[in-house]
Amino acid sequence: MFKINEDYLKLPGSYLFSTIAKKINAYQEENPEKALIRLGIGDVTQPLAPAIIEALHGAVEEMGNASTFHGYAPDLGYEFLRSAMAQNDYQVRGCDIKADEIFISDGAKGDSGNIQEIFAKNNKIAVCDPVYPVYVDTNVMAGRTGTYDPQTEKWSDVIYMPCTKATNFAPELPKEVPDIIYLCFPNNPTGSTITKAELQKWVDYANEHKAVIIYDAAYEAYITEADVPHTIFECEGARTCAIELRSFSKNAGFTGVRLGAAVIPKDIKSGDTTLHSLWARRHGTKYNGAPYIVQKAGEAVYSPTGKVQLKEQVAYYMNNAKVIYNGLKEAGYTVSGGVNAPYIWLETPKGMTSWDFFDFLLEKANVVGTPGSGFGPSGEGYFRLTAFGTYENTVAAIDRIKKA
Ligand code: MLT
Repeated sequence: MFKINEDYLKLPGSYLFSTIAKKINAYQEENPEKALIRLGIGDVTQPLAPAIIEALHGAVEEMGNASTFHGYAPDLGYEFLRSAMAQNDYQVRGCDIKADEIFISDGAKGDSGNIQEIFAKNNKIAVCDPVYPVYVDTNVMAGRTGTYDPQTEKWSDVIYMPCTKATNFAPELPKEVPDIIYLCFPNNPTGSTITKAELQKWVDYANEHKAVIIYDAAYEAYITEADVPHTIFECEGARTCAIELRSFSKNAGFTGVRLGAAVIPKDIKSGDTTLHSLWARRHGTKYNGAPYIVQKAGEAVYSPTGKVQLKEQVAYYMNNAKVIYNGLKEAGYTVSGGVNAPYIWLETPKGMTSWDFFDFLLEKANVVGTPGSGFGPSGEGYFRLTAFGTYENTVAAIDRIKKA
């Protein structure tokens, strides 16, 4: 008789963005005449840049020709993409990351969910609160988080690092020492960042306690301030304690194309075993890899033309961030984020709960956002808006919110 993985039953509700999608669909079915503006999930709206389209076309042509056809991709991904990443994302910043330390994947959501598999069940994780829900949910599925208390909305075996107004929406070094620390900067959902000097403290802490940092750098392209690090490998000693996750979703608009990477330096070891070798084993055994045509599109992200076009695309979204930030401020909201990140984090007005405010905006302004409490208990009383809409919709949404 088969038995199910009962750890899945511990998960309260469905995945945050699935819950929101269901709510919106139900509302839209009841109100088909309402034109909703969706600034909820961080999904991009601008078409792929011409340099990327050109690379895709070229790769499709290659796949249609016997002499240039490609079958299975190499386990770690194609050398041309790993080298482009090693050089452009790391070596130009003075970071010692080599192409064979980069594992190409279909995105950071999968990598951030799967990476916990290479760690023993009795590792204790520390997460920011609020946090991208994938980190916690996947550890719940793996049976690593203990029991859930619906009162506090916390797991007994998870160390929560509150990121509140009092901490400038950044975590503080936890008193109880974790084994695995999840960090995401620029942060999803709060849009906050930390300086290189602050990140260095985390690297030193991890090395001192032999912990691993899983560093989600999905939003690094949105950094505008000079002292904010683009990668954890800018910090001294990160090679012995940090795994970095990269995504092409937000810097190049690949949410519908799918491409990402996990960077695992060969220096992170438990005894003689490297984490690199474990992830290589996993990748080789049960991951199909990203398609050749997609990896060619990824390579175009690093071409001179691709870089120029994507800079413009990021600037387009950051202009939306400014529209949201300034518009909400004018309307009397307390807002943060939006300077080094495509997310704006606002305090819900008049003591409304995050979900009350979600309903209010949906019904009164026909604008969709993400309730802060969906990211963790410290997100209660907050709300996230994304800058990934079109400019026209962003302006219209702020106008509607002001009127509501
Ligand atoms: C978000 O809205 O938090 C992100 O789009 C989710 C993701 O990238 O998976």
